[in-house]
Amino acid sequence: MKSSIGMTVTEHILKQQRESPEATGAFTQLISELIVAAKIISREVNKAGIADILGYAGHRNIQDEEVQKLDDFANHTIIQRMSHIGQLCAMASEENADIIHIPANYPKGKYVLIFDPLDGSSNIDVNVSIGTIFGIYRRITEGEEDGTLTDVLQAGHKQVAAGYFIYGSSTMMVYTTGKGVHGFTLFPGIGEFLLSHEDIRIPERGKIFSVNESYYNYWTDGVRRLVDHFKSPDTKPAYTARYIGSLVSDFHRNLLKGGIFMYPADTRDPKKPHGKLRLMCEANPLAFVVKEAGGYASTGEKPILEIEPEELHQRVPLFIGSRKDVELAEKYVQGQA
Ligand code: AHG
Ligand code: MN
Ligand code: MN
Repeated sequence: MKSSIGMTVTEHILKQQRESPEATGAFTQLISELIVAAKIISREVNKAGIADILGYAGHRNIQDEEVQKLDDFANHTIIQRMSHIGQLCAMASEENADIIHIPANYPKGKYVLIFDPLDGSSNIDVNVSIGTIFGIYRRITEGEEDGTLTDVLQAGHKQVAAGYFIYGSSTMMVYTTGKGVHGFTLFPGIGEFLLSHEDIRIPERGKIFSVNESYYNYWTDGVRRLVDHFKSPDTKPAYTARYIGSLVSDFHRNLLKGGIFMYPADTRDPKKPHGKLRLMCEANPLAFVVKEAGGYASTGEKPILEIEPEELHQRVPLFIGSRKDVELAEKYVQGQA
């Protein structure tokens, strides 16, 4: 008899594990524990308004950004839960300057977890969707010891899994292991993520462009002409603008409906010549997801997934979403349109 509640994410991961002969269950354990962390974060997000967990935590992070209490809570929750499962040799977080080692008293594993614990922090106190973004790699160095920066600084195409949790009107998990993109919705009554969006495919071309136009005067001429194109009455079919200010939410909407999200380089801050978004914990995971859904992610010059990282927190310009829209963006950025 068919299960009355549909497929849980754990069933889905185990089904994918059975289809991968080399899978040992370690990966399934890893993802399952990450899901526990996300459920804990989701609960805090959903009661943030009534708990003392809103507002500024009183310190700035490696990104020189004010850290919100929920940033800290999400970061500590993931680090604390993921340290003891014995499947990781190292972690890296948007909120931590250096790689995060697994405590000496816990066994090390063969995977690396890189994450943005809470994306869209500026939206926490105004009840707008926020999320957690993650990417998973296999370790490169041999042995059972601590992972190193070598294990963490890998190109995005080396990811074995990636995805995000979005804490919005419902809590969802969207992930890929290289076998398509699948979405699960958290059913609070049973505390389980159930399959709700199987094999998500992003439309080849969208009708939505998503960018913070207040930076218009700081962009290159090519980017300005690209955004002018999206706004031009001569462009058919017409595009509409949507910008939530949480990457994970803008990305998720475009993944389901089609469209392009852009965070170009700009000349506002000489310390950030490549824009605001981080390669390792934001661009790479979402680039893997969108590629698996039939879309594309580029810096405007090259595919995100082919960048050989040099620094843990390096930033990249990001054009991500429907393939034809991102390819058009590349043409404008490169002065070919
Ligand atoms: P985070 O909260 O993890 O620092 O990420 C915020 C990012 C991203 O979520 C969003 O797309 C972007 O900041 C918005 O930046 P602007 O406010 O400059 O548009
Ligand atoms: Mn972020
Ligand atoms: Mn963040």
